[in-house]
Amino acid sequence: MSFSIERYKEESKKVDVTGIDWTEVSAHPLSEGDLFCLHYMMDIENHVPLYLSHLLVTRACMDPILTAFLACWNYEELWHGENIGRLLNLYGIEFDAQDRIANVRANLGFQNSLSLLSTMAGSWLLKDFSAVYLTIGAINELSTLTGYGALIRKSGHPVLKELLSRIIKDERRHYAFYFNSAKEWLSGNQRAQKLDRWMLDRVWVPVGQGVKKQEEVDALAIYLFDDEQGEAELLDLDAKIGKLPGLSGIRLMSKALYAARERIRRNPRWAWRIIEQEGWAIKPPKRSPIGQLTGRRLPQEAGTS
Ligand SMILES: [Fe+2]
Ligand SMILES: [Fe+2]
Repeated sequence: MSFSIERYKEESKKVDVTGIDWTEVSAHPLSEGDLFCLHYMMDIENHVPLYLSHLLVTRACMDPILTAFLACWNYEELWHGENIGRLLNLYGIEFDAQDRIANVRANLGFQNSLSLLSTMAGSWLLKDFSAVYLTIGAINELSTLTGYGALIRKSGHPVLKELLSRIIKDERRHYAFYFNSAKEWLSGNQRAQKLDRWMLDRVWVPVGQGVKKQEEVDALAIYLFDDEQGEAELLDLDAKIGKLPGLSGIRLMSKALYAARERIRRNPRWAWRIIEQEGWAIKPPKRSPIGQLTGRRLPQEAGTS
C-alpha cells in the first residue's frame, strides 16, 4: 500500500459528485437502520475539525508532512459530511446542517476540553504518543470505509451506493497515509510498540464513541455487522491492523461487536430501540444556546439588537 504525500497534496480535492442522480434519492426507500447509520456517519464526518483540534496540540504536528496531510484530509472530510447531509435532506429529512453540527459540538461540553488537555499532556510526556494516534487514525479510516461498504450492502440504495463508493476512495487514501505513518513510527521501535498496544487494549474506542453514546455505537455495529459477512469483515479489519509492528493478533472492532452482542443479550431492546424510535435527532444543548457558541443569532434577536 503506497502513499505519496506530494501526489496527495496535488490531487486532494472535494469528493466529485458529478453525474450522481440526486433526483433519484427519494425514489428508493431507506430503512430506519440505514437512516440511523447515515445520521451517525454524517455527524462523525462533521466532527473532524474538532478531532483535528486534538491532533494540532500534539507534538506530532512538528512534522510538516503530517500537517500537510491534515490540511487536505480535513477539507476532504468536510465534503463527506456535506454530501451525506445533502442526501438526507433530499430524501425528505429536514434539518439545518449548521444547527445540527453546532448542537453536536455544544453537547460535548466539558468532556471535550478534558480530552483535549489529556491528549496534549500525553503527547508532550510520551515521546511515542504519535504512534498511538497514527494507529488510531488507521483504524478509524479503515472502520469508516468498511462501514460505508456495509451500508451500501444493507441499504441497496443506488444513489447512496454511488456517493459512498466515491467517498470510500478518499477513505482508502486516508487509511494508507495513517497506516504507513504508523508503520514507519513503530518499525524497530519496541518502546513505541509497547505503548501502542497498551493504549489500544485499554483506551481505544470505536470511531464516533464519545461524540455518540455507547448505545448508539452498539446500534451502528449491530445494524451493519451482526451477520456472517459483517463479522468476517471486522475480523479482517483487525487482521489488517494486526500487521502493524507489535500489534499481531490484536482484536478491536470484532471485540466491539462481541461486546455489543453481549449487551443486547442482557437487554434485547438495547441499541435496537434507538433505531426503531428514530433516535437520530440531536437535542439542542441545555446550557449553551447555539447563538452563544457561534455568534449567530435568531433573525428576531438580530433585528432587535
Ligand atoms: Fe470521511
Ligand atoms: Fe477519512
